[in-house]
Amino acid sequence: MTQSFYVTTPIYYVNDSPHIGHAYTTIACDALARFMRLDGHDVKFLTGTDEHGQKVDKAARAAGKDPKAFCDEVSKRFLALVKGGENLLNVSNDDFIRTTEERHTRACQELWRRIEASGNIYLGKYAGWYAVRDEAYYQESELVNGKAPTGAEVEWTEEESYFFKLSAFQEKLLTFYEERKDFIVPEARYNEVVSFVKGGLRDLSISRTSFSWGIPLPPGGESNREKHVMYVWIDALTNYLTALGWPEETPDYKKFWADPESTGPVHVIGKDILRFHAVYWPAFLMAADLPLPKKIVSHGWWTIEGEKMSKSLGNVIAPKELIDAYGLDPVRYFLLREVPFGNDGNFSRENLVTRVNAELANNIGNLAQRTLSMIQKNCGGRVPEKGDAEANEYKVNQANKAHYEHIANAMRANDFVKAIDMIIDLAAKSNAYIDKQAPWVLKKENPQRMGEVLYLLAEKLRWISIFLQPFCPAAAGKMLDQLAVSENERSFAHLTERYALKPGTTLPPPQGVFPRIETGEKRG
Ligand code: MSP
Repeated sequence: MTQSFYVTTPIYYVNDSPHIGHAYTTIACDALARFMRLDGHDVKFLTGTDEHGQKVDKAARAAGKDPKAFCDEVSKRFLALVKGGENLLNVSNDDFIRTTEERHTRACQELWRRIEASGNIYLGKYAGWYAVRDEAYYQESELVNGKAPTGAEVEWTEEESYFFKLSAFQEKLLTFYEERKDFIVPEARYNEVVSFVKGGLRDLSISRTSFSWGIPLPPGGESNREKHVMYVWIDALTNYLTALGWPEETPDYKKFWADPESTGPVHVIGKDILRFHAVYWPAFLMAADLPLPKKIVSHGWWTIEGEKMSKSLGNVIAPKELIDAYGLDPVRYFLLREVPFGNDGNFSRENLVTRVNAELANNIGNLAQRTLSMIQKNCGGRVPEKGDAEANEYKVNQANKAHYEHIANAMRANDFVKAIDMIIDLAAKSNAYIDKQAPWVLKKENPQRMGEVLYLLAEKLRWISIFLQPFCPAAAGKMLDQLAVSENERSFAHLTERYALKPGTTLPPPQGVFPRIETGEKRG
């Protein structure tokens, strides 16, 4: 039976335009979603924008705009990165949710109702620190030099508020983490969450009264209830359910959320929003008696040329700027390849150029170019005969199969770097093989053997291209086009001899897929 897999990006605050930090989360999810589809799963991939709360309200005011009009405008800039918009990042999302949509209000109010019915919500008064930038409450003891531990400004806030009895979930959460050691990855983040929860949980303020840009509470209860809007995080987290049609028990909800056999839901997030996803969200769901997600995958943060990305430093990089300069697939490749997933990383243009030239242009690109142009020139532009290289080829396919297992295991562990390394290694070995066999020499001495060698290389290239699709979808697709591999024979299930290239197939004229990035600096 086909296993389902639901993967989500965080929904992005629309207080500002997207930058490469946002693009990174989305691209990582896209690689995962594409990988799982190729691996035969029924995938749903969600992204979108987080539009309520004080932070967005403030940004709208600063821009002199009505909050909804402001959200419409900024949300479009995020939509432009993915499917549904211009899709600048070539992302395969199945939906794009906005928290100002009607479907979302319904889901949030229903979740609230269920939690309230469970007896876990009470009315009280919040008096403490709040950081608008983080949309988070902080205790006095957490402050560092009068600021949030994240460096955000805090303001003293006193207001009537509804509270969620988070403290009542400490033991339940700890038991859950104990039973599901893979709930939070990487392990360091798991440990961080467990020790945070062991340190004791305070009840969480889940409504605000000092502004109105949020989802109203469901009617009922106390008389001044209509003054409250939901705390933006309870609103935001619910998006993951909204997009499945919940509270209706839709087929999507059943398949992607409630099916114990599913490999999802998986929430991919940055480490800064771990507590919300790994502590608050499971507690809300426990209170509402709903199934919990399978995994929270937390990645690190990017700095730019060694510095924190910030508006005041003027070093914020818009995704489009990089794509225009280097091309999309090289950027996607670099972001996923440069830093072990989970670690912080530094974005440097020089490293991007070096890596792309060495690993994509000189390795994979070169292999494709050499193999395909030799076939074009010397084999009449047709896939050559395998000849008596069958035994040899069998070995190649065995080795490739082992490679598939390794790559799949790495991806299942969210180890993009390892998965990519193995693809690069496959290409490097093929390049070594072409050098050793020297088909350009065989051309005169033993043309039949030359054909066999080129056949094996082309078949290797088929495997490499199939593997590369989650990371560099356009370039991998182009390579598969050049190998005349049909569109519906590009999944991992087609990595068998049965679908191997057929001798005699006409191939289109080769075109370079990974050009070298010339910076002009070295020529000088
Ligand atoms: N709206 C919340 C998420 C709600 S999810 C129910 C939010 N939005 S955000 O726009 O501030 O951040 C979205 C994602 O972008 C987070 O995963 C965050 O970690 C990521 N990044 C923002 N800046 C980043 C870097 N400099 N580097 C890597 N990722 C970064 O939080």
